[in-house]
Amino acid sequence: MHKIKLRHIQQARGLSQLLQKVSMSSQPNVYVTRPDVDDSGLELLRKSCNVSTWSQPLPVPRDELLRQVKGKDALYCALTDKIDAAVLDAAGTQLKCVATISVGFEHIDVEECKKRGIRVGYTPDVLTDATAELTLALLLATNRRLFEASKQVYNGGWKSWAPMWMCGQGLKNSRVGLYGFGRIGQEIAARIVPFKPAQITYTTRTARPAEAAKVNAQRVDFDEMLCLSDFIVVCCSLTPDTKEVFNASAFEKMKPNCIFINTARGGVVDQNALYDALHSKRILAAGLDVTTPEPLPLDDPLLKLDNIVILPHIGSADIETRKEMSRITARNILAALNGCQMEAEVM
Ligand code: DGY
Repeated sequence: MHKIKLRHIQQARGLSQLLQKVSMSSQPNVYVTRPDVDDSGLELLRKSCNVSTWSQPLPVPRDELLRQVKGKDALYCALTDKIDAAVLDAAGTQLKCVATISVGFEHIDVEECKKRGIRVGYTPDVLTDATAELTLALLLATNRRLFEASKQVYNGGWKSWAPMWMCGQGLKNSRVGLYGFGRIGQEIAARIVPFKPAQITYTTRTARPAEAAKVNAQRVDFDEMLCLSDFIVVCCSLTPDTKEVFNASAFEKMKPNCIFINTARGGVVDQNALYDALHSKRILAAGLDVTTPEPLPLDDPLLKLDNIVILPHIGSADIETRKEMSRITARNILAALNGCQMEAEVM
C-alpha cells in the first residue's frame, strides 16, 4: 500500500518537473549583458521568460557575448556592448529583439537589425530630466571651478579669502550655444533660463521654432555659434554627421573665454584638439561627462589639465531614472516578443 503511494508521489513529482521543463523550454530566452541592472526590470522578464545574465558588474567580454547570445529570443544590452552583424549571426534567426538600457543606440547596428526583422528598443524621455540636471551641475562645476577650488581646501592652498581668487565666469549675461536641441537640449535650455543669460542659441539641422520660443532661443548656424558663444553645450546624438564635429578648426573659432560642455558622446569631439585648445588656453575650460575611450586611461593628458572637469558618464545616473530605464527595457522586450507596440522603438 505504502509502496504504491510512494510510486504515485514519485510519478507526480516527475510529471511536475517535466511540465516545468516543458513550460520553461517554451518560454522565450532572454540574455541580459549585465547582472547589475535594476532588478525590477529583470523581475518583469522573469515572469514569462528564461532570463540569463552575464555574471560580472562589468561589460560582458565579446567572446562571452557571442557564446551566450546563441539561441536567445531577445537581448537586453547596454551602451558598452557592440551589437553588430557578428552578434546577430551568433544569436541565430530566432532573435526578435535587441533592447538597450540607454537613449543612445549608436552601439547597435540598427540597419542590420532592421534587415533581419529584429526590433530595437531604447529608453528616451525617462532620462531627459536627469541628464539635463547633470549637464547643469557639470556646467556650474566647470564655470565656478568647484573641484579646483575644493582641492585647495584639502591641500593647504586656501590661505585666506581673497578678492580675485578662484573667480569663475558666470552664466548671467552670457551667450549660451546649444549644439543639438532635442528633448535633452530643450530641458537644458529651460534650466539655464533662470540664470539670466543674455542669449540662448541652438544649432540643429531642422529649425524647432515652437520649442525654441519657450526658452527664447534663436537658431544660428554652427560657425555663428562657435564664434559668439561664451558657453557651448553639446547635447546631440552621435551620428556620422556629428562625429568629431568639434575639431581643431571648431576650437580655433571659439572665443578665448569659451567654456565647452559635453554630456552627449565623446565621439563628437576630437579629443586631441580639445586638449590643445585647453592646454594653450585657446578656450577657457571644459566639462565632460563623456570621453573617448570610456573609462579614460589614467595617463590621458586631459587628466593633467586644471581647466577641465571630467565625470564618468553619469548623465542619467539618478536612482529612479535608472530603475525606470531597466523596466522600460524589459517592457520593450516583452512587447517585441508578443508582437505588440514597444514603449520606445528605434524606427
Ligand atoms: C544614454 O542613455 O545613452 C546615456 O548616455 C547613458 O545613460
